[in-house]
Amino acid sequence: MVPIITIDGPSGSGKGTVARLLADCFGLHCLDSGALYRLLGLAAERARVAPSMVARLVEIASAMQVEFKGDCVLLSGEDVTLAIRTEQAGNAASQVAAVPEVRAALLQWQRNYAREPGLVADGRDMGTVVFPDAGVKIFLTASPEERAKRRYNQLKEKGLDANLPRLVAEIYERDYRDTNRSVAPLLPAKDALVVDSTVLSVREVLEQVAGNVRCAYPELAQQGA
Ligand code: DC
Repeated sequence: MVPIITIDGPSGSGKGTVARLLADCFGLHCLDSGALYRLLGLAAERARVAPSMVARLVEIASAMQVEFKGDCVLLSGEDVTLAIRTEQAGNAASQVAAVPEVRAALLQWQRNYAREPGLVADGRDMGTVVFPDAGVKIFLTASPEERAKRRYNQLKEKGLDANLPRLVAEIYERDYRDTNRSVAPLLPAKDALVVDSTVLSVREVLEQVAGNVRCAYPELAQQGA
């Protein structure tokens, strides 16, 4: 099995940023599994398919044509990089992600990312369900208020609409749905290292996680900065 590092955590915990930097640092592939659920949420909304229409959702999930090109995400050839980052797309993602059949339909697709020279995968269930044998499992978290603030800044930087009190409320709502769903709930794997980033910089988190990667996969230690 190739080296696999999983980074799970709630919305806005910084797991996407840390996953990308870690993948660059060690020269590994990177899987943003949240993007997949966001793409499905967007595709379903466009097709006017509600989260309760399970068979249609699974059809869409199985037929979705997704391409990751550098920092861009394409859905059936259309650049939807910004469209999937809105709070509306995040909420749509959280709803379709609560459907067990949808998660089953996307499982193998995600596992196919485990290729040489190795993978950093971020999401909610990377360490618990998708890659239970990963050598390094991180559960990255931060307080809901801090996460809302980070999301607010990210959206503003992208020139997107943002409202802080609404973001705080949405983060609480999304956390509740992601944590209490019946399948693959947002929980740290038993063997995960829990990192609270509320008062840590990205660099501090990265150093802590990179240290664990070097211990678990000495063969990667040469490449890590
Ligand atoms: O990480 P994110 O905010 O881009 O994820 C969007 C939604 O997708 C999130 O609310 C829950 C869902 N998701 C999931 O259920 N499982 C994953 N592995 C990744 C995301």
